[in-house]
Amino acid sequence: MNEAVMNELVDPTMNARSNPETEDSLNIEYTDTVGQPLCEKAKIRTQNVNVFYADNQAIHNVSLDIGAHEVIALIGPSGCGKSTYLRTLNRMNDTIDICRVEGKILLDDENIYSKKQDPVLLRARVGMVFQKPNPFPKSIYDNVAYGPRIHGLTRNKSELDDLVEDSLIKAGLFAEVKDRLHAPGTGLSGGQQQRLCIARTIAVQPEVILMDEPASALDPIATAKIEELMNELKENFTIVIVTHSMQQAARVSQRTAYFHMGRLIEVGETDQIFTNPAHELTEKYITGRFG
Ligand SMILES: Nc1ncnc2c1ncn2[C@@H]1O[C@H](COP(=O)(O)OP(=O)(O)OP(=O)(O)O)[C@@H](O)[C@H]1O
Ligand SMILES: [Mg+2]
Repeated sequence: MNEAVMNELVDPTMNARSNPETEDSLNIEYTDTVGQPLCEKAKIRTQNVNVFYADNQAIHNVSLDIGAHEVIALIGPSGCGKSTYLRTLNRMNDTIDICRVEGKILLDDENIYSKKQDPVLLRARVGMVFQKPNPFPKSIYDNVAYGPRIHGLTRNKSELDDLVEDSLIKAGLFAEVKDRLHAPGTGLSGGQQQRLCIARTIAVQPEVILMDEPASALDPIATAKIEELMNELKENFTIVIVTHSMQQAARVSQRTAYFHMGRLIEVGETDQIFTNPAHELTEKYITGRFG
């Protein structure tokens, strides 16, 4: 980690801040993020990010890089701000009226909150897969073709056919649906619907895919398919996944970030976080003492 950069990023008042509730119950003082929040080859850099819902601050001074072609897992107790942080990365929080984001979020060194940035184009570059599969009430084909049509990514029907097929193949769904591309997407099983949503996201050729607990509504077989898929997807995409399953984080990610009450407590190589966490709060979480 580059010390000089870190010093610039860290809010010097942060050590002085305290959180009475946690200190009382756990007798722990907050420190700055420990570990390696910065990457040499960052796809996204978030710097001193604060997020508020009206007067409630949900994210406190988070600085974290997302490395190109990595899978990074965001973990932490319910309500710690994982989804809120994830949504800052493609301005999904814009859709929540009372939500306000402060700090810098750079995609390939460009500020995604600048006035020049079109959020619709941004979300094509930084796609999102939600917890509950949400296919459109359209055919399997039209679900996947939707984004490419809106963004004019193909010149004719045959190119669009190829793109739909390719996206379904990459999402590991093509073999199961090739004979019923014009049947409704909503008629698929939950795990298939989630892979359809992944195909829909991939079809606009994003650079980053955000996943908010993408497998939490799925059975173990469907979950295993999604996890396998993530391994393949990271060749072409950068993936940020929120998960409640520590086993899943350990299986799919190279780096893990541990959030606690809106703060980024620790980030490091996934193996290290799970076998040898540096911060007491991380240790308490992974050993199941809260969360
Ligand atoms: N739309 C919203 N309006 C107001 N407050 C919100 C909103 N969404 C989240 N919050 C608050 O922000 C904080 C962080 O919530 P967030 O949903 O980001 O946590 P999380 O880590 O994703 O939790 P979970 O694991 O339960 O999904 C919580 O205190 C929550 O109540
Ligand atoms: Mg959440």
